[in-house]
Amino acid sequence: MKLRKILCGALAALMTLSLAGCGGEKKTTLIMATNAEFPPYEYRDGDQIVGIDAEIAQAIADDLGMELVIEDMAFDSLIAAVQSGKADMVLAGMTVREDRLENVNFSDPYTLTAQVVIVKDGSAIVSPSDLVGKKVGVQLGTTGDMYAEDIDDVTVERFNKGFEAVQSLLQDKVDAVIIDREPAKVFISQNEGLIILDEEYTVEEYAIAIAKNNTELLEQVNASLAKLKESGKIGSIINKYISAD
Ligand code: ARG
Repeated sequence: MKLRKILCGALAALMTLSLAGCGGEKKTTLIMATNAEFPPYEYRDGDQIVGIDAEIAQAIADDLGMELVIEDMAFDSLIAAVQSGKADMVLAGMTVREDRLENVNFSDPYTLTAQVVIVKDGSAIVSPSDLVGKKVGVQLGTTGDMYAEDIDDVTVERFNKGFEAVQSLLQDKVDAVIIDREPAKVFISQNEGLIILDEEYTVEEYAIAIAKNNTELLEQVNASLAKLKESGKIGSIINKYISAD
């Protein structure tokens, strides 16, 4: 009886060990949260989410030996998703901002870009200062939304998708749209009669948002990013989607 107990115990221990061995082959998942309404950074191609951020995240996951899973959600729920642990990181063309740093940490930036103003060709709005007193369309919860709010006498119309803001401009429901430069270029290329003002609204940087308490992942991601910048991988991903102009 006693011997049997010992043998069984030993067997159980062995099984646990071998199971752990098998488990080791399965990669840990790295969950990226995004809002796939933002070409060329993230958008849908069939049932796939593609774009610069999806490829950068994949390169990081490969470097860390992890398996990437992408979760698509509303832009204004991304930060809560990493705070609650529903996702490990946000790549969503997300701008580094002081107020966001109260809720999440940001990796080193991977892109320098800008907010721009889209208007109808022939509009009386020829520079950002002409936006005073106007109706401005933005994507809810984005930096464009925050900048628009600060304009004097402005009416801000908020949309769930940046593209919907552009549509309302086409329908003359707003006078201008404030949005990130590269999606702006994509949206105006898909619709006639729209232009981007020469003067940029503001310059900003995109980075990866990670939960405050997950400093381990933050360090891993920064180390990967440094390697991928150094090797030219980040540059080549960006060049694949954005042609120099
Ligand atoms: N850069 C802006 C921000 O951080 C807009 C980002 C929108 N991104 C998206 N995937 N819809 O607020």
